Amino acid sequence: MDLRVLRTAHPFASLIVRLMSRRGLVRIPRWGIVVSGAVPMREVMMNPRLFIKNGRHGTAELFTRVFGAGMLMNTEGDGHRLLRRAIAPRFTAAQSRELCATFTQEIVDDTRERLLRGERVDFVQVAQLATGIATVRLAGWKLEGAELHARARYVYAKSIELSASMSALTWKAKDADIENAQRIVEEMTADIHVSYDAQDPETVPGLLALAGVPFEQARGVIGTLLVAGIDTTASALTRMVALLCDSDELARLRADPTLVGSAVDESLRHVAAVPVVTRTTTEATHLHGHDLPADSAVLVLIMNCLKDEVVLENARDFRANREMSREVRKLWFGSGQHFCPGQFVARELMSNFATMFAELDRPIRIVRRQAARKVLMPNYARLEVELVR
Ligand code: HEM
Repeated sequence: MDLRVLRTAHPFASLIVRLMSRRGLVRIPRWGIVVSGAVPMREVMMNPRLFIKNGRHGTAELFTRVFGAGMLMNTEGDGHRLLRRAIAPRFTAAQSRELCATFTQEIVDDTRERLLRGERVDFVQVAQLATGIATVRLAGWKLEGAELHARARYVYAKSIELSASMSALTWKAKDADIENAQRIVEEMTADIHVSYDAQDPETVPGLLALAGVPFEQARGVIGTLLVAGIDTTASALTRMVALLCDSDELARLRADPTLVGSAVDESLRHVAAVPVVTRTTTEATHLHGHDLPADSAVLVLIMNCLKDEVVLENARDFRANREMSREVRKLWFGSGQHFCPGQFVARELMSNFATMFAELDRPIRIVRRQAARKVLMPNYARLEVELVR
């Protein structure tokens, strides 16, 4: 069922990904290499000297045109380290726990109440709101209550509009398309100057101001957080629920709620919410027996790497109690210097919902679903669930 989500979002690409899946590495002459194995994936991502994110191949150039230079995903070396160090205090495990306990637990509790009342709940809406709230607070808006909810919905809608428009853009994107994407970033980040100007250390814009990052660059970083954080987490959260119901692994989880952590990791592995990343070689090099000239493209199919049978038994199965192999562990958040800063908040949010489902006195079932079309991140457009009577 989860495969249908992928096929609906990207019919052609999902076919190619499938064809590559058991082939480890596929060299494409005069272009580069496609990576579908967990070990070479980590090797690429752990070597930012030879494999850069900010090269000719991939999204860096487009990101620079839309968000400006120095927005994390198009930065390497000292500049990148400065940004990561500056924002780190807001992204710790403890901060993420506190953020979710204070601002998103009420959505978890409300979902439980609605299910117990016998309501059908569209989990897509729930996941969008919860993820929007977490990301809006994380990015620096100190809103609460109805204002926070309204902003979360607004930012969610804008970030989807932006990622959908960016997926349609190419290197030769017209100026008008780029301007449209820039306008969306400006709208989304319109009032971040409040916490930036106040140098508020409890917010990301404030921390960036304190680190001496110019306002326009800080705006690009905030735009990145919104785009990288919302769509991915909402997709992982919604698809986790569908996977738990479809596989009947929810029964295993309900029998043993201590499995919540491994069920969340297994969902993140299975979903691969960031399915693909790219790198460019800086000089001639070798990768697992393949010669690569300088300036080659390296396309890492994370979704294949996470289902690599060489390092993980029955990797295509979904098992809430899986012992994750060392090679695959956390690879869904990347590896090396661009490793996902949002890992704790995404995991915390997913764990809170998984715990609620595990503790219900009856299982839930899916009553209606629809995969989303024309989206960058594969997801459901609708996933209605209810408590089994
Ligand atoms: C299930 C949810 C998520 C998944 C699977 C995920 C996955 C990833 C992956 C694989 C990368 C590395 C990309 C690369 O190396 O090319 C990444 C980077 C990033 N993620 Fe996440 N992410 C998630 C949630 C979040 C959240 C909640 C935020 C923030 C609110 C976030 C912000 C970022 C940023 C800013 C980067 C770029 C970091 C850099 O370039 O230094 N992500 N994410």
